[in-house]
Amino acid sequence: MKVIGFNGSPRKKGNTVCSLNTVFSELEKEGIETEMIHVGKEKIQGCRACFTCAKKRDQRCAIEDDPVNEWIQKMKDADGILLGSPVHFSGVAGTMKSFLDRAFFVISVNNGLLRHKVGASVVAVRRSGGLPTMNSLNHYICYSEMIMPCSNYWNVAHGMNPGEMEQDGEGKQIMEVLGRNMAWLLKIVEMGKKELPAPEPAAKIMTNFIR
Ligand SMILES: Cc1cc2nc3c(=O)[nH]c(=O)nc-3n(C[C@H](O)[C@H](O)[C@H](O)COP(=O)(O)O)c2cc1C
Repeated sequence: MKVIGFNGSPRKKGNTVCSLNTVFSELEKEGIETEMIHVGKEKIQGCRACFTCAKKRDQRCAIEDDPVNEWIQKMKDADGILLGSPVHFSGVAGTMKSFLDRAFFVISVNNGLLRHKVGASVVAVRRSGGLPTMNSLNHYICYSEMIMPCSNYWNVAHGMNPGEMEQDGEGKQIMEVLGRNMAWLLKIVEMGKKELPAPEPAAKIMTNFIR
């Protein structure tokens, strides 16, 4: 089994990566392969709302000059996904949001490419804004019909300078517990598939509130 972690920070050794790595080490102890993808320093344009992906349904975003399409395929091939972001102005870091908006729109218009995969979010923050950021990341996971493991508190670790989250004993434990629960859930889902067929996907109803 394999889990892909996306680091939304421009820092390759920052607190988001430390948080993701803490989850990774618990997964690896359970024999689960991991891969880190660094999103934060890439040049990734936001969604153009061209709806080409919805018309073509070829599992691709129409913007082809960045790694978003490659990362969509990586998510499709993985068993689990971890979304990590630093808090920037109480929200998801900009480049990460551009990636997620585009990738998850493509995922949603292609019959839910991530349906029933295991997904969770982690957040790094100096002081405040951890919860709205985790909440935003979880929106992508929930919209995709993924299955989410939890920890013993919200998945937020504190620190300002790179590596400082290692001193946040509670934050560190939150990531460890998340890793163990994620490994267990991945195995349950894998075992369960053999015994219990998944429910059929529902044809999506979109009412736009006016008609
Ligand atoms: C542009 C920017 C905005 C930030 N906004 C916040 C904020 O709203 N609240 C906060 O507590 N920390 C804020 N921070 C601090 C980071 O969340 C903190 O340093 C975090 O550990 C960064 O994670 P990283 O090391 O993975 O990049 C901000 C940092 C930057 C660069």
